[in-house]
Amino acid sequence: MKRVFSGIQPTGSPHIGNYLGALKNWAKIQYDYESIYCIVDLHAVTIYQEPKELRQKIEELAGMLLAIGIDPTHSSLVVQSAIPQHAELAWMLTCVTPVGWLERMTQYKAKSAAQETIGDGLLQYPVLMAADILLYNAAIVPVGDDQSQHLELARDIAGRFNSLYGETFVMPATHLPSVGARVMGLDEPDKKMSKSATGSGHAVSLLDPPEVIRKKIMRATTDSNPAVDFETMGAGVQNLLTIYQAFTGALDVDVRAHFSGMRYGDLKKQVAEAVVAALSPIQERYKQIMDETGYVAKVLDEGAKRITPIAAETVEVVKKAMGLYTAS
Ligand code: AMP
Ligand code: TRP
Repeated sequence: MKRVFSGIQPTGSPHIGNYLGALKNWAKIQYDYESIYCIVDLHAVTIYQEPKELRQKIEELAGMLLAIGIDPTHSSLVVQSAIPQHAELAWMLTCVTPVGWLERMTQYKAKSAAQETIGDGLLQYPVLMAADILLYNAAIVPVGDDQSQHLELARDIAGRFNSLYGETFVMPATHLPSVGARVMGLDEPDKKMSKSATGSGHAVSLLDPPEVIRKKIMRATTDSNPAVDFETMGAGVQNLLTIYQAFTGALDVDVRAHFSGMRYGDLKKQVAEAVVAALSPIQERYKQIMDETGYVAKVLDEGAKRITPIAAETVEVVKKAMGLYTAS
């Protein structure tokens, strides 16, 4: 059975962009593959995280991944730092990665521009991501569109390793959702919805109560038209329609027929109700999961136990390929 692997950072609070771009697909395709989903805490610390808060966010994010439907009896839900081979393979891949490839990454350029001193980890970030994927020879990687460039790099790194040391790694394919691969900020529809943006009207968190969701969506930026016009609409209206379509699964033609000419106030009300209806059961499950003492820790522990042998085997294979020291 082919493997699927994906990761999410335990920073900020997960929002509908994460859900529609990635998490919804994680749950949807999990049974078609051997699935591994990873909370990437080593990626999170490429930017300073308050230790107590980070530790707590890891557990909360694991609870959320279970709440959105990751089934721990089938899929392995793990924390990156619990499996030392991620960092070990990352070093080996670092040694075959030209610095120029890393300096070109748009996410590196954006994140490093916001830092006073740039940690080396920020530059290495996509190498660690390549290691995450290649460690399990994952064939499919479901992500949002902002990760496409990192995935191309992962393939380049795999290709370079294979050509230097012999065929070792499977080429991972990027898997994007057809609707919702790039959800934009509600307040700034020209920027992708992000966990780190500070504005209170920017993102809908998966744990926002219904009244907060309604308020945020009713205040979303639109344009100077009074009503939906598919020919001239701006990015804000387009984004609201995307959110509606991704949450309801409605077809293009139906969305067009339903919303054409609708006033923005009514559009927003319908979008808000679609989001509330989709998130309410997730929030209920989240609460149940977090109320069960020890459950999340047990799931993470079992996940790590299940997949560590795969990671250990890959590292052995890579060491041998490179001529590094192995016991036998
Ligand atoms: P991150 O929060 O950066 O760890 O992202 C976790 C997953 O959510 C990745 O697959 C991202 O590509 C995806 N993602 C993050 N922000 C968005 C967004 N605004 N729209 C769609 N997908 C997103
Ligand atoms: N960089 C990804 C993000 O911020 C998270 C991530 C880390 C990831 N390792 C991965 C995603 C491996 C897919 C596969 O969204």
